[in-house]
Amino acid sequence: MKIGLVLGTRPQIIKSVPIIIEASKNENIQLDVIHTGQHYDYNMSHIFFDEMDLPDPLINLNVGSGTHGFQTGKIMIELENVLHRIKPDIVLVPGDTNSTLAAALTAAKMHIQVAHFEAGARSFDMSMPEEINRRLTDHCSDILFTVTENCMKNLLKEDIQSNKIYQVGDTMYDVLLMNRIKINKSKVLKNNDLIENEYITITTHRQENVDDPYKLKCLVNMLIELSDLKFVFPIHPRTRNRLKDNNLIKKLEKAENVKLLSPLNYHDMIKLIKNSKILLTDSGGMQKEAYWLKIPCITLRENTEWIETIEFGANILLEVSNTEIKNHIKMLFNEDIISANFTQNPYGDGKSAEKIIHILENKIK
Ligand code: UD1
Repeated sequence: MKIGLVLGTRPQIIKSVPIIIEASKNENIQLDVIHTGQHYDYNMSHIFFDEMDLPDPLINLNVGSGTHGFQTGKIMIELENVLHRIKPDIVLVPGDTNSTLAAALTAAKMHIQVAHFEAGARSFDMSMPEEINRRLTDHCSDILFTVTENCMKNLLKEDIQSNKIYQVGDTMYDVLLMNRIKINKSKVLKNNDLIENEYITITTHRQENVDDPYKLKCLVNMLIELSDLKFVFPIHPRTRNRLKDNNLIKKLEKAENVKLLSPLNYHDMIKLIKNSKILLTDSGGMQKEAYWLKIPCITLRENTEWIETIEFGANILLEVSNTEIKNHIKMLFNEDIISANFTQNPYGDGKSAEKIIHILENKIK
């Protein structure tokens, strides 16, 4: 059986790692990795193949940056040729990026079966490009792998047939468990003069946050005004570009309480979160990572796909423009006893990739 796994961005690479490893152990499966090139900087893409000891992707479409239409269209044009050539039995797509949607549409129109993992995640906010991507991908998929019960319910409400849906958990939890030793060995704290529990990690890259000059300004002002607290900020290239465009980067560089870093590799990033007092983020994946690591999270958005973290009191939704955010950060930072409930894990058992490969093998036979 031949699987064509199409990925293109940082989180897609990370969540695909256990699937690539699991497939390599199965002699009935050939898995070809096709990289769209949506992310192309070394530390947004190839770094993860290197640190996880994975072979290079079979093909890179090198689409690069551009508007949504350009990026999605270019992937479709290039991928169609590749799929004609390599003829996979199934195209497997992770997540909710432009690469996900482009690959799912291309394969579906070529009558190649599509399997989507992380299906059914919903923010119910159609202004997010990710929400459009994931909804459309789910509706042209033949096999849908969900992370949570809630994701499964979302798909059933949209009239997706139950016999196409498989509740398997999150492959990001698999990656975390597989990498525990290497994460512990990371020297990111030492290399950046950081002390456990004495800093806050912040990441932001979502279009709705960083492409809005008002919100970007609120973010920078908030960090500077909370001058008693130390922030560590690995900056996504989109965010760095927008900070430069709005003449805010210098202001941030001058702030003594803010440590700006380049995007980190996986082991360093997880070690950074694990030892921070709080995580502030607009990332989908990091909200769950903070939960698994028992670190309180403030999500810099109006909504989240991972509502369980909110229900357990481990995550709060607060936009950077909210006047209450600074008080919440101070309160959480000074709390000695964390009141959140981190005991349950609705996001799987660390064997999601094993289940995905097993189901695909039986489906295609
Ligand atoms: C994309 C995904 C988002 C995911 C995120 C993770 C979509 C619509 N969005 O957002 O769901 O959470 O990846 O990072 O697919 N850039 C570089 N170097 C790179 C990559 C990007 O400089 O290696 C810059 C370019 O200026 C580019 C911008 O970042 O224009 C945005 O990149 P893009 O791929 O459009 O979206 P992300 O914001 O990364």
